[in-house]
Amino acid sequence: VRKLKVGILGATGAVGQHLVLALEDHPWFEVSEVAASDKSAGFKYGARVNWRQAAPIPDACRNLIIKECVPELACDFVIASLSADVAKEVEYAFAQAGYPVISNSSYYRMHEAVPLVIPEINPDHIDAIPLQKSKEHFDKGYLVTNPNCTTIGLCFGLAPLDAQFGLEKVLVTTMQAISGAGYTGLHAVDIVDNIIPWISGEEAKVESEPKKILGRFDGRKISYGDFAISAQCNRVPVEDGHTICVSVALKQKPRLADLKECFRAFKGLPQEARFPTAPHNPIVVLEEDNRPQPKLDRNLGAGMTTAIGRVRACPILDYKFVILSHNLVRGAAGAALLNAELLYHKGYLRG
Ligand SMILES: NC(=O)c1ccc[n+]([C@@H]2O[C@H](COP(=O)([O-])OP(=O)(O)OC[C@H]3O[C@@H](n4cnc5c(N)ncnc54)[C@H](OP(=O)(O)O)[C@@H]3O)[C@@H](O)[C@H]2O)c1
Repeated sequence: VRKLKVGILGATGAVGQHLVLALEDHPWFEVSEVAASDKSAGFKYGARVNWRQAAPIPDACRNLIIKECVPELACDFVIASLSADVAKEVEYAFAQAGYPVISNSSYYRMHEAVPLVIPEINPDHIDAIPLQKSKEHFDKGYLVTNPNCTTIGLCFGLAPLDAQFGLEKVLVTTMQAISGAGYTGLHAVDIVDNIIPWISGEEAKVESEPKKILGRFDGRKISYGDFAISAQCNRVPVEDGHTICVSVALKQKPRLADLKECFRAFKGLPQEARFPTAPHNPIVVLEEDNRPQPKLDRNLGAGMTTAIGRVRACPILDYKFVILSHNLVRGAAGAALLNAELLYHKGYLRG
């Protein structure tokens, strides 16, 4: 079977580079186009990109000519990692022109009939695509999104508990890595020796996206989860890996051992169907008092596994714990690629 051809929109960026690497030697897909801003268009990828990965630029991409993000690319679908303002028009134009668009950006995440998907958690929401196509009068194209980089890690801490014990209330405090702001996002002098207690738009995303992801799709409408959630988001001087402190109140009151077992036993469709980039364990529970730590634990499962540690009783709500998730892999490039694998598995991507 021939591999499907992928175009990467935003291929020179922090997320785009991880996509280029993650697609090297992929069994189902190959990169046929790289696109970025008009400033980069026309250059060879290897000559223009500010490559910041330990592994070299894959040969298949090094000599590709960077294109502009217009829907004239020779590919079967696109994975987009553009800022929200750019994504608004570019992603819609691609979907309208007949391209499946797998997006990292926030712009369409909360739109009705746009699936916001973590393949282990709500793969069935993908089946809102036919509704979206008829609503937007798309022919072959459509939009599918993955959540914000913090929301993804957080949802691995919430979804297993909601399914088994019922979520009531969630308090979240984040310590988010610098790379989450993109390459041009933060000056070193602002973040070294510092914590910034504000990330534009982040708390609203973390307080809304989990409700859509943990909501139900009944074949006609995605309804939202009914738990309460409050988030405080901070930027800290860590390069990669978002750390999230969470307290939860649950409808049923499990024992601590049952809560840990619930995390440990959690698996989803990507594991059952053995998607190429699915981690063997979506969640690893760490027992050491001083873990998870970004420096030590962010690359578990090649960056696709969520680490959960310090699971213990909370004197105000029921339980509290600490989550660590790699923001550029599980939180962005790896999330989009796993969504592409889900779409392929379910027959929504064709050559
Ligand atoms: N970083 C994370 O942890 C993370 C996690 C989850 C989601 N995301 C989301 O992913 C998206 C990309 O983030 P990033 O961190 O990779 O950003 P980034 O490093 O700033 O990269 C931005 C990319 O967009 C391109 N671009 C900029 N303006 C453009 C335009 N007008 N038209 C077409 N392309 C344009 C850039 O190309 P040039 O090189 O030519 O300027 C570059 O390839 C954002 O929506 C972000 O919120 C990021």
